[in-house]
Amino acid sequence: MIFSEKKMKKLGIYGGSFSPPHNGHKKSALSFYDSCALDELRVMPAGVPPHKVLEGDATPEDRLNMTRILFSPDNCGGRNVSVDDYELKKEGRSYTWETLAHFDAEDVQLFLLVGTDMFLTLDSWMRPEEIFSRAVIVVNRREEDYEESLFDEKKAYYENAFGARIMIPAYKPLVVSSSELRAQLRRGDVVNGYLPMSRTLDRAVLDYIVSRDLYGYIEGVLSFLREDLKTKLSEARLAHVLSVERETVSMARLLGLPLRETFILRKAALLHDVTHERSPEEQRACFAQFGVKPDEEDFRSPAVVHQFTGALVAERVYHLEKEGVDAICCHTTGKPGMTVIEKVLCLADYIEKTRPYPECKALRRYFYEKAQAGRVCEALLDDCMEKYLNTTVAHLRGKGSYIHPQTLAASEYYTK
Ligand SMILES: [Fe+2]
Ligand SMILES: [Fe+2]
Repeated sequence: MIFSEKKMKKLGIYGGSFSPPHNGHKKSALSFYDSCALDELRVMPAGVPPHKVLEGDATPEDRLNMTRILFSPDNCGGRNVSVDDYELKKEGRSYTWETLAHFDAEDVQLFLLVGTDMFLTLDSWMRPEEIFSRAVIVVNRREEDYEESLFDEKKAYYENAFGARIMIPAYKPLVVSSSELRAQLRRGDVVNGYLPMSRTLDRAVLDYIVSRDLYGYIEGVLSFLREDLKTKLSEARLAHVLSVERETVSMARLLGLPLRETFILRKAALLHDVTHERSPEEQRACFAQFGVKPDEEDFRSPAVVHQFTGALVAERVYHLEKEGVDAICCHTTGKPGMTVIEKVLCLADYIEKTRPYPECKALRRYFYEKAQAGRVCEALLDDCMEKYLNTTVAHLRGKGSYIHPQTLAASEYYTK
């Protein structure tokens, strides 16, 4: 080895804002670990980086938590990687030379990972001579961004002026811009699936972002959906789904549902009738489009079919979470043993403010009166489901209409 003369622990330091941490960070960190044959790697979210103003609304604790999620042992494949809160906990600004001095020891050889832009400005950092003397500088090089000559000039300068030890591993970094990622989150791009971002953002990190309502992501997605549905639904249907969305918000608040569940509910509310205005032929075409064989029995209840095609579209086109897809799939009929999300969507659809029917208004009054009396729990939802289903069954029987077997099964379940 060029840099280690005696047996010392090779300790890698990888600092950054990590707002949010993404798969580019993960790839850099693990490649850094492997290419330098590190014994240990500390990933260190920065406190207040002197060279960079932090954007976004994630608190230092959020950044630490998200970084810990991204660098969980499962994600690091047995490597000795930990997330260190040294710089976050430190009073005042964090300077790299201080961090290196803190971790330097007799039996430790330090390796510092830097990006190309940081590398090119290293000599303007506080106490560059100390940075170069304490650590091997490992450059996460983005070739496409810089002239080779500029890079080589700087490298030669650091080596001559500071005796710098510089390594440029051969791996290709996954280039992700955190500010572009934040812009994507704010735009709700993920609705166009989490899929386009799944290459760059870890699913568990995204779940954390939702649970803490960071980077304007929740509102970004909901705005995207509202705009998108304007082109797909009639004005009346759009007014209905917007009203269902508002209803799920107030019901979720009364039930004390976590942000993640509320977010799924709101998306499901916006999407639940996405195929409602399609003819039976168009419903069949929709099943065919996704390669699903419809149950002919379902077509005997024309008003019900859209819950199945709507669930398909929500899942395949909008990448809605399974809990939301399942809720759309039974929002008209109900079903035995529904989850809270399923019950809330079904009831919100029925009792939303713009419904003109007396039975809807009556159930709405009932729910909110009980809620005001302090009785908001799953038992109240079950109670309301019983009323909804019994009213629906009685109404269909009165008209001599066919009743979907799932409605009957649900009615029997909730009447018990
Ligand atoms: Fe519906
Ligand atoms: Fe509806």
